[in-house]
This record gives sequence, C-alpha cells and structure tokens, in this order.
Amino acid sequence: MTKARITGTGSYLPQRVLSNADLEKIVNTSDDWIVSRTGMKERRIAAADEFPSDMGFIAAEKALKAARVGPEEIDLIICATVTPDYIFPGLACLLQAKLKATRAAAADIQAACTGFIYALFQAKAYVESGMCRHVLIVAAEKLSSIVDYKDRSTCVLFGDGASACVVSAEGRGLSIRDIDIGADGEVAALLMLPAGGSRMPASESTVSQGMHYLKMEGKEVFKHAVRRMEISSKTCLDRAGLREDEISWFVPHQANMRIIEALAKRFHVPMERVFLTIHKYGNTSASSVGIALDELIRTHTLQIGENVLLTAFGGGLTWGSAVLTAEGGEV
Ligand SMILES: CC(C)(COP(=O)(O)OP(=O)(O)OC[C@H]1O[C@@H](n2cnc3c(N)ncnc32)[C@H](O)[C@@H]1OP(=O)(O)O)[C@@H](O)C(=O)NCCC(=O)NCCS
Repeated sequence: MTKARITGTGSYLPQRVLSNADLEKIVNTSDDWIVSRTGMKERRIAAADEFPSDMGFIAAEKALKAARVGPEEIDLIICATVTPDYIFPGLACLLQAKLKATRAAAADIQAACTGFIYALFQAKAYVESGMCRHVLIVAAEKLSSIVDYKDRSTCVLFGDGASACVVSAEGRGLSIRDIDIGADGEVAALLMLPAGGSRMPASESTVSQGMHYLKMEGKEVFKHAVRRMEISSKTCLDRAGLREDEISWFVPHQANMRIIEALAKRFHVPMERVFLTIHKYGNTSASSVGIALDELIRTHTLQIGENVLLTAFGGGLTWGSAVLTAEGGEV
C-alpha cells in the first residue's frame, strides 16, 4: 500500500516584532505577567499590505523547493486558516494562481489552530487512496487582523505567520505513521469570532460592539486544551504502536507554555526534546505546529527512525495529533 510522507516543509514569519514591552504601552499588562502566564516574549505582526496569501506563498515555495516538486505536479492544495484574505474565494485558490499550480484543485479547511493537522489527515487519505500523488498544505494566518488590541486577555497571545508542507506518495522524508483528529462543537462558544458570518453580517452595530474580534474564555479553553491534546496524543501513539519513551521530538501547538509543560510532563518528554517557538512567535493558530516542525527540521538533523509527535488544539473545539517517523530523506 502507498504510504504518505512529508517530503518538504517551509515557513515564513513577518519582519515586524511586537514585544511584551510594546504591549505594555498599549494595554494594562506587564512583561512579567505575560512571560509567567504564557511563556511568550515576542510575536510577529504582518505589514499592513501583507496578507495570508503573501505569507503562505513564501512558505509554499520553500516547501516545494525542499520537496523538489514543481507547482505543476501538485494535485491538490489544502489551506488551513481562520484569517483568509476573503471569506471567498478561498485562500487555496489565491495560492493556486500565485504558484501557477495549474493542475491543482484548491480548497480551504477551517479547523482553527488544529488546521495543519486536519489538513495532514486529509492529505494522507488522498495520497494513500491513490487519488493524489502530491498534496500541498499551506497554513497562513494574519491574526493581528482579528485581535482586539484593547483586550489584554487575548491581544498578548497571538501573532502572524505561515507554514507549508508537501505530502507525497513517493520520495523519502517524514512518513506519516498515524493521525488522530476530533472535535466538540458543544463548546464552540468558548473560542469564536462572533460577527462577519451570515448570522451576524458586518453592520455599524457589530463593528461598534467589537464583534469582529476574536473572543476567548481563556481559563475554560486552557482546561480543554490540556485534556484533549493529552488524550489525542495518547490515542495516536497507541495506534502507531509506539511507547512514550520512543518520542524523539515533541512539537506541540504553541498556545501557552504552561499547557506545553503539562503535556511534556504527562508524556515524560524532557523539555530539551520539546520544540518551542512560543517565546518568539506566540500563537500563530493553524500555522503554529507547521512553523515549529519546519524550524525543528532546519535546526536539527533528524536521524532515521526518530519519531516526532505533533499535537494541536483550537476553536471548534478541535484537536489532533500526528506521529511522523524520519526516513532519512532531506525534507
Ligand atoms: C489566556 C490565559 C493566558 C490566561 O491565563 P489565566 O492564568 O487563565 O488568567 P485568567 O484569565 O484567570 O486571569 C487572571 C487575572 O489576570 C488578568 N489578566 C488577563 N490578561 C492579562 C494580561 N495580559 N496582563 C495582565 N493581567 C492579565 C485577568 O484580568 C485576571 O485578573 P483578575 O483576577 O483581577 O480578574 C490562559 O487562560 C490561556 O492560555 N488559555 C488557553 C489559551 C489556549 O490554549 N488557546 C488555544 C486555542 S487557540
């Protein structure tokens, strides 16, 4: 049977840095509070004329180059984002045109911060069923466009950025051993963007009430995040037939350092084997685990047989985990 593998990864972060000291000038917060409650020191903010299609394009070009796959070889582009350039046309279609991936079908998925892993799940299914040879996944977020910089409980958490990977039926890279995904729409209201959809279209009143900004019940979301990522990671490891001590690298969603530490402790992964970008990029939603995976690959040579556990959690609520195993090819 054909096995799907990641044959190339890429990422992009905008240049502008928003530090905790900068945030201290905007809202009633402190570097101390942000570092101790979240682990974040800085995040990146896209320029006024820089959008997910621009950031995603650069990440995608890097992933295609690393995979040695031309844009014309791509069968399908899946984009994961909560901040697409437009509600429609989809981000994937904008990227299909920019990349000149003329043969590719293109559509977006919306699974908030779990988007990258949901996209990986779909790509694996399409490749292993024989329906696609090469699938390009792009996650790109301009969260600064939906964050309320008057709300200190959310504005310190989020940043902008993009990640991408190519999932192929051939070549060598990181084999996608197993994936677990799940959702619980019963608690959807804990994390949402109330206005801008058909239920609450843009109006003077939605804008004046700040309903086009992300809203989150942080404490409740925190509890779900730890529990859901723990169960999902365990399920994924069990399905892959791996023990906890066989995790070489743990690459979690970069939402809160306390959540990451709780998970690392639960799986007995030493912190030096947990790959972190949270201090410099904050939470980049769908892009988060893809950016961390790309930086892990660019800064460490993965040995054949090393296992990487990805896990993520986000609005919906949604969650997911994936186990990848290094096959020795360049990624
Ligand atoms: C958002 C989050 C960092 C808040 O941390 P917390 O320890 O739960 O803090 P609380 O919300 O209980 O707030 C504690 C106090 O700090 C205050 N506070 C909130 N944000 C603050 C900030 N940026 N600076 C200073 N004080 C702040 C609150 O107002 C509250 O004050 P009060 O006790 O006087 O009411 C945390 O809940 C979190 O990370 N949640 C999960 C996020 C997540 O996983 N998202 C993933 C999906 S994208």
